[in-house]
Amino acid sequence: MSDKHATLTLNNESIDCPVLDGSLGQSVIDIKPVPKTQHFTFDPGFGATAACESGITFIDGQQGILLHRGYPIDQLAFDTDYMEVCYLLMHGDLPNADQKDQFIHMIKKHSNVHDQINRFFCGFRRDAHPMAIMVGVVGALSAFYHDSLDINNPELRELSAIRLVAKMPVLAAMSYKYSIGEPFMHPKHELSYAENFLNMMFGTPYDDTTKPDPVLSRAMDRIFTLHADHEQNASTSTVRVAGSTGANPFACISAGIGALWGPAHGGANEACLRMLQEIGSEDRISEYIAKAKDKNDPFRLMGFGHRVYKNYDPRAKVMQQTCHEVLDTVGCHDDPIFKLAMKLEKIALEDEYFVEKKLYPNVDFYSGITLNALGIPSNMFTVIFAIARTVGWISQWMEMMSDPNRRLARPRQLYTGPTQRDVSNISDR
Ligand code: ACO
Repeated sequence: MSDKHATLTLNNESIDCPVLDGSLGQSVIDIKPVPKTQHFTFDPGFGATAACESGITFIDGQQGILLHRGYPIDQLAFDTDYMEVCYLLMHGDLPNADQKDQFIHMIKKHSNVHDQINRFFCGFRRDAHPMAIMVGVVGALSAFYHDSLDINNPELRELSAIRLVAKMPVLAAMSYKYSIGEPFMHPKHELSYAENFLNMMFGTPYDDTTKPDPVLSRAMDRIFTLHADHEQNASTSTVRVAGSTGANPFACISAGIGALWGPAHGGANEACLRMLQEIGSEDRISEYIAKAKDKNDPFRLMGFGHRVYKNYDPRAKVMQQTCHEVLDTVGCHDDPIFKLAMKLEKIALEDEYFVEKKLYPNVDFYSGITLNALGIPSNMFTVIFAIARTVGWISQWMEMMSDPNRRLARPRQLYTGPTQRDVSNISDR
């Protein structure tokens, strides 16, 4: 705590609010004393509210900085891999070689899903959106792993965390295989996390374990790394709110998956590709730019803008480079969708409206194009985001569960409904 204080004066009464300093970034005004004034604070969208203390991820949106446990995202993306980043988020520091081997061993050991989970899939329509399947199946894991549901036991919390990180790519690939009517693939011990995911997506029992091209599996790994955590965003806050009630971790992550699905959040990568397909040709870009600027048109340029980054998205810089590596490897720089995307990027970066409002391409603009080049169908884009973000969600959940000051999340409201009135007899209404 600093020795600074903020004073709120209301109806001649003054309330003293302590100012708390973090290790980086903005200090916060502790407004817990405010209800004593018979008032609440009003902050729709939580743009001015820090809801927790956290030591996992730091973002400076003005400077375009993203740090996980102090390490810059570009260094993590280029100099480590996703398994190391998972360890970092969960344990607070990067692993040494032995710790990394043990962690990978644990992830592989827990990657198979219970055989009865296969039957869950049969309950879904064949054309179900894979995100709909994920919301259901991940929540259903709580019916299978009773032995790790004691949320007050730190070792069991970690076991649930490992189970979730390990099983997410398997469940995600199963949701895709189910939708195309192909048999489920099992994870293979000799493949890395990213290679396994690509193999479970594209391999078949009669033609399996074709190790994916290293550039493509590296790109997949980087997409996982860049989406691993992002501070108190909508889905992470959802996980924390659900967790604050004492709900089990599988239910909390399922809630996070639901929140991620929306096009303003994780659904943006899928929405971005759909938008590119809808625009269709370069000569229609100006029509869509005009729609995006029109206040009376709800259309927004998907993959542009960010609630926090108002300068540039540091993940987008890494993703842009990875995107070009993938396009070079698969040789689709001439594909009309990619050409269209590049043209749109250029126009939006130069257009006064986008420049003035600081609407830069975000990570999902480039990840959508990259995933498309990797042959991933667009309805799987948000699922891939969910695989990657699971480690962030569960690390934030574990941090919250070990916080002695944890409280049930219970926001207040500004009530604008009818004042008290009496119920009349039904014949008089
Ligand atoms: N296209 C056109 N105009 C936009 C866009 C866009 N993509 N994004 C914001 N604006 C405009 C708004 O209309 C608003 O204009 P105004 O000041 O004239 O009213 C202004 O920019 C500010 O927009 P807000 O909605 O207030 O900004 P906010 O921070 O709430 O929105 C958001 C952030 C939701 C990401 C928004 O930029 C958006 O909808 N982008 C498209 C969806 C997207 O790509 N989401 C992915 C986010 S990244 C992620 O989740 C990993």
